[in-house]
Amino acid sequence: MQVPPTKASHAHEVETPHDEVNRPSGGALSGKRVVLGISGGIAAYKAAELTRLLRKAGATVHVIMTQAAQAFITPLTLQTLSGNVVATELLDLTQESQIGHIQLADSADLLLIAPATADLLARLSLGLASDLLTTVALACQAKLVLCPAMNVNMWNKPQVQAHIAQLLSFGAHIIGPEQGELACGWVGSGRMVEPSAIVTAAESILAAEQKRDLAGRWVVVTAGPTYEAIDPVRFIGNRSSGKMGFALASDAVRRGAEVTLIAGPVALDTPPGVHRKNVESAREMAQAVLPLLERSRPPDCIVMAAAVADHRPTEVATRKRKKQDLGQSPQIALTENPDILRSLGEARRGPHPLLVGFAAETHDVEAYARRKLIEKGCDVIIANNVAEDGSGFGTDTNRVTILTRQSGDSVLRQELPLLGKSAVAEKIWEHLLPLLPAPRDS
Ligand code: CTP
Repeated sequence: MQVPPTKASHAHEVETPHDEVNRPSGGALSGKRVVLGISGGIAAYKAAELTRLLRKAGATVHVIMTQAAQAFITPLTLQTLSGNVVATELLDLTQESQIGHIQLADSADLLLIAPATADLLARLSLGLASDLLTTVALACQAKLVLCPAMNVNMWNKPQVQAHIAQLLSFGAHIIGPEQGELACGWVGSGRMVEPSAIVTAAESILAAEQKRDLAGRWVVVTAGPTYEAIDPVRFIGNRSSGKMGFALASDAVRRGAEVTLIAGPVALDTPPGVHRKNVESAREMAQAVLPLLERSRPPDCIVMAAAVADHRPTEVATRKRKKQDLGQSPQIALTENPDILRSLGEARRGPHPLLVGFAAETHDVEAYARRKLIEKGCDVIIANNVAEDGSGFGTDTNRVTILTRQSGDSVLRQELPLLGKSAVAEKIWEHLLPLLPAPRDS
């Protein structure tokens, strides 16, 4: 039996581009101007759905298509869906007078390129301005979000990966690609992320961008262990990985702070935008940190997340200590290291900088942490039980309690659940924000 065609009876079953526009979601894309760049890959057809969803999220969408993109999808489709003239040419008098490539770049809140082909990634990473899209990308100051899509073997090529690494270091966000069946017949990594997931990712990037609550502040974070040399080969160290301090530095940059990261020996990449100084021993760390108080404009906040060695070998042998020379029970004489946090607490005059310490403990965690808070003269101490599973040295998660000194010696405590170290970093900055000393002029 043939079923006659019927007209949809509920409005929400029929979606046209027009009934969705101007329905801002109240999310981070609401009221924002997105410049959507489309380069020439088969995933270009998904840009139509992406345009529709971006508008549904409340964004205004201005599309730029490369020449190759127009072989996969027509400008007319994108023009109809976006409600705006589609730009394709750099050197076209009519388009330039109607749209203006610098105006497009200047007015964008977000430059989203989906799909981003291998060729386009290469040109962006080199800073070429060989067509309208790459010229706008070079002139644009807004966040750049790239959604790569290509054949799996192209994606895995070192050249492509080098361009991705370069673009990440310039601050671009890379979304995907995903694993799956590719249009070229291969199965693997290379498929463009689905439009709905791109919209969600773009919303969270913009939301993070809008939270620049540390703008104008200078924060210093120490991280990692210190190594105290015994001889040219051996040292006394500890198990700190530096991950918590690096997460704090990274989140502070995201919030707009100028960040100096003083790192002990760790195997971690510098978060983009962070000024890093590497040190090895406690005394080197002290030399890097303590003079900062003498600056005419000292830091607004110093977070001592480093696990600083309390002692160092009194004598450092210039040549390797040989087993046969050491006897049956060799001894290493130790000398106390400077306590950097305590020195900062004693030396600071006035409210700058806010001083934050960490207390890594295996037992009686809060009692020891409270004592350090008072005795070292700091404002806040982050207590963590490094003996607990998933918390402390080397892990990607942490469970901490934030202890804040109130008037007199009373202490306010805020216990956080087990969280990823970047989420812990976020919570710590949220806690510290209202405690920061008043910003200085200049
Ligand atoms: N700290 C420091 N200089 C040191 C030792 C520690 O600045 N020589 C700082 C750490 O960076 C941390 C805080 O002091 O912010 C507490 O460090 P922790 O190792 O927990 O405490 P200690 O003072 O070393 O005391 P203990 O070893 O008895 O726990």
